[in-house]
Amino acid sequence: MLPAMDSPAILTRDLTRRFGEFTAVESVSLSVAPGQFFGFLGPNGAGKSTTIRMLTGLLAPTSGQVQILGLDFAAHPVEVKRQIGVVPEGLALFGRLTASEYLRFVGRMYGLDRVTTNRRTEELLDFMNLASEPRKLVTDFSHGMQKKLALAAAVIHGPRVLFLDEPFEGVDAIAAGTLKAMLQRMTERGATIFLTSHVLEIVERLCSHVAIIHQGRLVANGSLDDLRQGVNTLPAWGGRVAGGWAGSGTAAAAGEKLTLEEIFLRIVGGPGTEATDEALQELSWLA
Ligand SMILES: Nc1ncnc2c1ncn2[C@@H]1O[C@H](COP(=O)(O)OP(=O)(O)O)[C@@H](O)[C@H]1O
Ligand SMILES: [Mg+2]
Repeated sequence: MLPAMDSPAILTRDLTRRFGEFTAVESVSLSVAPGQFFGFLGPNGAGKSTTIRMLTGLLAPTSGQVQILGLDFAAHPVEVKRQIGVVPEGLALFGRLTASEYLRFVGRMYGLDRVTTNRRTEELLDFMNLASEPRKLVTDFSHGMQKKLALAAAVIHGPRVLFLDEPFEGVDAIAAGTLKAMLQRMTERGATIFLTSHVLEIVERLCSHVAIIHQGRLVANGSLDDLRQGVNTLPAWGGRVAGGWAGSGTAAAAGEKLTLEEIFLRIVGGPGTEATDEALQELSWLA
């Protein structure tokens, strides 16, 4: 089934996940347009990985819907999975294979023919600088090499939507540069990328659109430029963040441009907010 041309690449409606009594993700509604480089930002434990697992079929939502390229995920799981690539938080690679064996295995799993699989495997290994030790087993790879291999495996079938959970975590600057080059090339060619990160700098440098999740709830959503200027979005979040900041103090004053870090800290708390100052009082023995 072909998705409608004008559908969002990713659409969620009231996406919710509970673990027992605890609500990890609460009523998240998001829309990501095709070709967007979308950053999903939030502090540790905010619900980023839980959300991305629901967006990629790795975890069933408690309630709410996910549509990818206009297809309902629950109704068309196989069609959707053909169109997406995923690098999950825990990587989950098969360790007893070489990188080349691994990529050829994944390519064949996606139904690529042998010639295409072999060609793409070679190209990806070259691009990722993973070709120099052809006999090395994946289990003996460094963390950065494993991340690069996981990304190669996630794109071998040419997905139109790519999901990455903390792709730069534990990756050195050289490997990170390779990963970024690859991702930028993909978005230039029309792919949609959804990445999670708790690192503001990464999101600010790469992404055109950003959502911020805090305690399972979406607290910001818009283009990076809009968020920086506090346009339209910031004041409205005030009532939605439990026990947080005063909404009026969050919007940028006229002409003021906020950095993403300032926005993030004002929303989710940090130095200078009441909660943190109180917490520091408690730690007075530390000094
Ligand atoms: N399988 C699970 N069982 C119980 N709680 C979970 C499970 N997975 C995640 N959580 C909880 O949900 C919250 C959000 O987790 P997660 O989505 O991993 O956050 P993030 O990726 O933003 O750091 C955390 O409090 C986490 O402990
Ligand atoms: Mg996570």
